[in-house]
Amino acid sequence: MKSYTFGTDYYPEHWPKERWPEDARMMREMGIEIVRMAEFSWQKFEPREGEFHFEDLDEAIEILASEGIDVILGTPSAAPPKWIIDRNPEIQPMDQNGLRRYFGSRHHDCQSNPVYREHIRRYVTAFAKHYAKNPHVVGWQVDNELGNSHNDLCYCDSCQNRFRLWLREKYETIERLNEAWGTAFWSQGYDDFESVSVPKTPAAGGLNPSLALDFKRFTSDLICEFHAFQAEILRKAAPDKFITHNLMGFCSKPNYYELGKQLDFASQDQYPGGHFLADPNAYHGDRNAAELDFIRSVKHQSFWVMEQQSGITGWEILGRAPRPGQLGLWAMQSVAHGADTIVFFRWRSCAMGTEQYWHGILPHNGVPGRYYRELSALMRKYAPLLQEMHGPVPKAEVAILRSIDQEYAIDIQPHHPDNSYISEIMTYYSALHRANIPVDFVSDEDDFSAYKVLIAPKHFLMNEAQAEKLKSFAENGGQLLLSWRSGIKDDTNLCHTGGVVPAIMEKLTGVKLLEYDCLRDTEGCVEWDGEQYSCLHWCDILDLCGAEVLAEYGHEFYKGTPAITRNTLGKGNCLYIGTTMDDRLSDRVVRELCGPAGVSPLLETPFGVEAAMRVSDNKEYLFLLNLLGEEQKTGIPAGFEPWDREAFDGTLSPYDVRVFVKELQ
Ligand code: GLA
Ligand code: GLA
Repeated sequence: MKSYTFGTDYYPEHWPKERWPEDARMMREMGIEIVRMAEFSWQKFEPREGEFHFEDLDEAIEILASEGIDVILGTPSAAPPKWIIDRNPEIQPMDQNGLRRYFGSRHHDCQSNPVYREHIRRYVTAFAKHYAKNPHVVGWQVDNELGNSHNDLCYCDSCQNRFRLWLREKYETIERLNEAWGTAFWSQGYDDFESVSVPKTPAAGGLNPSLALDFKRFTSDLICEFHAFQAEILRKAAPDKFITHNLMGFCSKPNYYELGKQLDFASQDQYPGGHFLADPNAYHGDRNAAELDFIRSVKHQSFWVMEQQSGITGWEILGRAPRPGQLGLWAMQSVAHGADTIVFFRWRSCAMGTEQYWHGILPHNGVPGRYYRELSALMRKYAPLLQEMHGPVPKAEVAILRSIDQEYAIDIQPHHPDNSYISEIMTYYSALHRANIPVDFVSDEDDFSAYKVLIAPKHFLMNEAQAEKLKSFAENGGQLLLSWRSGIKDDTNLCHTGGVVPAIMEKLTGVKLLEYDCLRDTEGCVEWDGEQYSCLHWCDILDLCGAEVLAEYGHEFYKGTPAITRNTLGKGNCLYIGTTMDDRLSDRVVRELCGPAGVSPLLETPFGVEAAMRVSDNKEYLFLLNLLGEEQKTGIPAGFEPWDREAFDGTLSPYDVRVFVKELQ
């Protein structure tokens, strides 16, 4: 596959044709090599059923090709045209309250509807055939940001039918479903699969957590199958073109690990300024880094950014303007975490529609301004680096287990209103990020043995195989961390009441869970060697059955009982954290975990200066990123030379990026 450095998302249909050659020329001059197009343009290309008019798109592709620019095409299934909706209004999705979401924006489609599938089959088949032999069309994107649909799952009759089929396949008999869902509670038993409904609200009260969990799993499977349906048509017609998808960081509506299996490589949509973020100096450097690391981990390989922020963001309300240097810094943070190609969204701020204020490289008037100048300087400078560095990724010895199933279950029962699965993951990720320790994410299915440290927060649903897998990671010399609410439930969201899993958990952690306290509207305190730290949200009240105590609670009736423990197991250890930690405490826990594992920081830097590294067979590339709007000082490790050969005196200006290289022997 040919490699690309920089690109842009382009909508030629929004502009007069006379402008297209100038756009293409300006793109080439600035360093753009690849363009994504067509993902919302169904109505233009098929104005009436079966009448395809790809002539304008052909022409735009030709014009771009004449400047040496290649193209990725998106299938437009996130925006079916009005003539389809008028004929088949039933394909509009239904929200949780049973109300239709109507035409007038985008995502007005249901992904299970068989009639809609036929419309998609017709369009995508014609589209794929038409471009199969076009050498300038190098890849496809199916739909757009799958999972970002109408802010909700779909609850229509078609989805209900599919949900019933999914349940029938999973449970085979209704008796098994009744048992798995605990329907004896509140008289919820079903006589057959046909009587199970999608969980519309308002229900009279809280939803059965087992039903809610299966519905989330079903929806994820449906979205992945919706992708597979289109990907199959595209692959058949054009086997030599790649398929990628623009993912949205930590979004979990479709399980990205599963969706990733269908992709040649993953792509990310990276908007570090947040959608409508009020404070340009608010620090999100850790969260932005975490989402990039997650997207790399979807396939454990380098990835693309299919939409990288290119200006001020906003729809009806706008965010703050990116500060000088910030757009380039954000793009290079993507590169530092493993992005090979950066495609900026969008080429030119749109004069029409909902996204008039989601700004492009060029302003509304098409005349280059600050964003263009900053980004073309960035492309000129770093295109050679991106060309040379294609493929290598950061080398992580620490992994965080992000299990989508756990996230679903915790979303259904967050326990504390301010705690979520992702916020708990971020407690650990942020501490590692502050320490400049590279991190991979892993799924339940991944092999953990490549890592020295495995952090598996809130592993709420636990089966025997998972508990054994974690135990053998520690026994074989790994440093494992587990936290509160681990091993509490089974796969269908029923509480364990004893038996095999709790027994393995006690052996693993060396602690017994006696009670717990949910810290509503209050904070707690943890004492470690005379040092005091605060803790939040939750406290497990523990009894020891083999572990040693590292830290104790310093508050409430459980003052003096274990809060953080360590259990030696075979050649390794299991740390157990009974609470949510403040930053100082999580920094200390990270040292406690990584020290014995021999994992050390890439570099010590002041807060807000991120060090990240990509490692090829013969070189290490060290990135220093000043994520803050103030000058900072830092050193570099021995043996590294500035990649651009410009002298480095340790000063990083606001939003500065510096890259250093070391040849490996
Ligand atoms: C997402 C979508 C784009 C665009 C941008 C800005 O990333 O993929 O189509 O809507 O958001 O809103
Ligand atoms: C009420 C109801 C019980 C139970 C409790 C706790 O008291 O009568 O059935 O639901 O609340 O929720």
